[in-house]
This record gives sequence, C-alpha cells and structure tokens, in this order.
Amino acid sequence: MKLNYLMPVRILMGENCLFAERQLLAQLGKKALIVTGSNSARICGAYNDAVKALEANGQLHVLYDKVMANPTDICVYEAGIKAKTEGCDFILGCGGGSPMDAAKAAAVLAVNDISKEELFGAAFDRALPLALIPTTAGTGSETTPYSILTDTTGSADKTPMKRSVNSPLLFPRFAFLDAGYTKRLNRNTTINTAIDALTHAVEGMLCLRANYLSDMLAKDAITMIMDCMEDLLAFPAENPTAFPVKKREKLLLASSIAGMVIAQTGTALPHSMGYLPTINWGTDHGRANGLFMKSFLSWCREKEQGSTDRRIPALAAALGMEPERFFDMLELLLEPREKAAETELQAWSKLPMKNAANTYIKPEQEDIARIFRESLG
Ligand SMILES: [Fe+2]
Repeated sequence: MKLNYLMPVRILMGENCLFAERQLLAQLGKKALIVTGSNSARICGAYNDAVKALEANGQLHVLYDKVMANPTDICVYEAGIKAKTEGCDFILGCGGGSPMDAAKAAAVLAVNDISKEELFGAAFDRALPLALIPTTAGTGSETTPYSILTDTTGSADKTPMKRSVNSPLLFPRFAFLDAGYTKRLNRNTTINTAIDALTHAVEGMLCLRANYLSDMLAKDAITMIMDCMEDLLAFPAENPTAFPVKKREKLLLASSIAGMVIAQTGTALPHSMGYLPTINWGTDHGRANGLFMKSFLSWCREKEQGSTDRRIPALAAALGMEPERFFDMLELLLEPREKAAETELQAWSKLPMKNAANTYIKPEQEDIARIFRESLG
C-alpha cells in the first residue's frame, strides 16, 4: 500500500470557538487582513467575532470585503496589495468558499511578486499565515491547499474560466468551525453547499489518487451528510433557523472532512463539468456538480463492470442505499433542472480531456458528451 498524506490544519470546533481559542490567532502576527464578502460574514456574526477576538488579543486589523462569488484574479490581487500596503502579517478569511479561496490567494500575493499572467502555475515558497472561518457548510476550503479562482485573462479566447492555485502553503494554520454561523443560511444555500460537500466525498472515492485514508474520510463524510438528507428534503423554507442545529453541525464537520478528502485526491469529472454552468449561467457551484452526479455515477457503474477496480459498491455502502434511491433523493433537492441549448451542449462537450484525467475510469470525449446530454439535455 502507498500513502502520502498531509493535513496540517489545526481544527477547532464548537460554539464561540473563535473567541475561546483566540490565543491561537495571537501566534499568527500583529496585524490581520480580514478577507470577506460584502455581507454574509457580518450578518452571521463571524466578522464581529473575529474583530472581537483580535482586539482582545491586542492585534490590529484591516478589512477587505469585496470578494464576490467565484472570485476573480483581479479581486485577489486587490486583496494581496491591500495586505502588502497595510503591512499585514497574517490573513483571516471569513465566509463561504469564495472569501476563503480569495484569502488564500491574498496570502500568497502579499509576499510574492507574481504577475497576473503567472498566477496559475507560479512557483512560490512563502505565504502569509492564514486562519479560516467557514460560514457555510460545503466548500471545505478550510482543509484544502487549493484556491479556486476565476481567471479573467488567461484563456486563449479570453472567456473567464475557473483555475486553481495549489500549494501546501495554502493550508490554513487554523480552521474555526462554529455551526452558529450557518444557522440562518436559507434553503438554497444550505442544500447547494451540502451537495458540494457530498460531491467532494463521492468524487474523492472515484479519483485516481484515492487512498485508504481518503476513502476512510470520504465514507464517513458521506454517511454524515446522508444522515441529514431527510432534514434537507424537509427544509423549512420560511424559517431556516428551524433546521436542526445538530444537523448544521454535522454538515459543517462533514464538509471539512470532505475537504480533507479532496486535499488528498483532487476532484473527479463532475467538478470539471460543473464549472461550465457556473461560469456561463451563474449556477451555484454545489448545485452545478450535483446536476451531473446521476449520469456520472451511472456511467461509472456501467464502465467498471468486469473491471478489478470496482468502486460503486463501496460508495453505495457509504450512501446506505442503492444508487437509484440516492438519485431520487438528489433529484428532489435539485428540481427543477436547468436545460442547456444544443449549441451549449456541443461546445461544453469539448471539455479539455486533461480536466478529466483524475477520474478512476478515463472518459472519452463521447462519454463527456453523453453525461452533459443526459444531465442538461
Ligand atoms: Fe466543490
């Protein structure tokens, strides 16, 4: 058996854990750049708690709160320059996946001279220390070494595309998990982020780089999320705070565990495909991946028949049900589905094959076309 496992994030979980464990923040530096979106971190209380903890420690802070959904290279340069010009010596990212991913990139750009053209694939050997506070339960960015950004300049035809900056330096030192920040999340955000976490764990089991430890974590994350499925299906749309707090906690921890999975394995085909509806239609990231799950898993099950590398039975065991029943539940969370125009299906089916290279069964271009058509046709 081969293993190469790194997960250097210290995870603190619990109500008010940020303030209770604020001495950890004191280790990071004298002045923080707090990186957030414009609203959500304030509304849920995480921003106020971060300020309170820093001030109790006697640490200075400045704010960058212009992170948008699917943050662009332009935005993270702005944040990195702010950290540099303000003399910040650490970064505190606070919010959903977008602010956390932006915080990671800012930590790199604050201390490296990297041009916009070089950002994706640049070599660097330092980054500011980082602490992350997730306020949604899905991305798992707090336990990964990835910053997923929108590249506005790098593609050949200048259409924006999702690309990543990867480095072990992007693992935060600390992740503070307080489910209280997620308790007001509405139905769409709760469900779409839960689907994101679920797809991380499911895809993690279906990646070439899956190993014993990543599978162990993935199975557990899947079981935890499936245990929340009935509550997700019955989400009290008019009153999000009626969603059980215990399930909020479970989803938050499961999303961090699923982050640990993809930190080892990367993601498989659905994440590569999901970027297209997200970039072109603005479809929420988790939902976009979920749209492909039924067709992708059916294709995997078909292709692995007769192979020695059969992974769907272990996945079904983790789900606690046959795939068909899982597909029915997922459909209830996703309905109504988006439909793509024929021209979109044809264009998207030309997805670069290198994006599909991490899946345990290598898809052909026609397989990708089939999954797009079955999912969005
Ligand atoms: Fe994701």
